[in-house]
Amino acid sequence: MSLKIPTPVFILTALFLLFPLTTTTTLQDLLRSRGLPAGIFPDNVKSYQLDREDRLEVHLESSCMAEFDGRMYFDRVVTANLSYGGLVGLEGLSQEELFLWLPVKCIIVNDPSPGVILFDIGVAHKQLSVSLFEVPPSCMPQEVMLEKLERKEGFDFQK
Ligand SMILES: *[C@@H]1O[C@H](CO)[C@@H](O)[C@H](O)[C@H]1NC(C)=O
Repeated sequence: MSLKIPTPVFILTALFLLFPLTTTTTLQDLLRSRGLPAGIFPDNVKSYQLDREDRLEVHLESSCMAEFDGRMYFDRVVTANLSYGGLVGLEGLSQEELFLWLPVKCIIVNDPSPGVILFDIGVAHKQLSVSLFEVPPSCMPQEVMLEKLERKEGFDFQK
């Protein structure tokens, strides 16, 4: 009996072994490979690191406010533990709820139901459609961002 490894298994194994050496893997590829939508982080990601314990550190060109359903604020460096379908122990990400900026503690996909992304903001859970996160959002211009952060009332943004 000869040992015959099925080709798909061989290819997957080869890919798996090569993965840590690949420098061209983008953050979006990484997120997809972990069952997460590609557009969780904004479009100004400069670099990222993933250590052996799956601690993910994402560096942005600058802090960034982006709009999904509500507004999210990304610090210049965002860290999280990456697991399949989730980012837990998040640091550097906040979400606006009722004019307050609340830190997002974790993001879980397909929980409690498929196609849903759940944001755990400590005091509450928020569910959104995963489809909102397929494409990295653009950062708002700096002046708009500062104005929105400084003015807690938030409704009147005319100059
Ligand atoms: C994140 O990972 C670190 C190192 O593996 C661990 O010590 C820490 O408890 C984790 N945090 C969460 C919230 O899972």
